Amino acid sequence: MIALTRRYEFPAAHLLAQPSLSDAENRRLYGKCANPNGHGHNYGVEVSVSGRVDPLSGRIADPDILDAIFDERVRARFGHRYLNDDPAFADRVPTAENIAQVIHDELAGAIDERTGARLVRVRVRETRRNSFVYGVMA
Ligand code: NI
Repeated sequence: MIALTRRYEFPAAHLLAQPSLSDAENRRLYGKCANPNGHGHNYGVEVSVSGRVDPLSGRIADPDILDAIFDERVRARFGHRYLNDDPAFADRVPTAENIAQVIHDELAGAIDERTGARLVRVRVRETRRNSFVYGVMA
């Protein structure tokens, strides 16, 4: 398999709290990430696509099209926003695990339609110490 990975960043804020739990339970579950008023991250996102190498261009996909899709579907929607207010997180806590899955689901269809490639993995880096992968792990 051959894959192309593009790297992006976008800043956003979130608060980790499960609405069905009490404040005390959320503090126990999420620690300082449950502090009122939320906090921000500069999220790093790696988007990996796989597919056939076009014999003419020698490429899997046009990186400019991937960049445009990311800008339209992710940066415009989530950049400089409070993620808890987005409908995608109406019924799930905006942890990096869930953010990775939401970004994957936002990108997959557009990548299928507008490039010859298929989205295989989204990695979200939340801090220097943690990152999260949704999709093919290898
Ligand atoms: Ni956080």
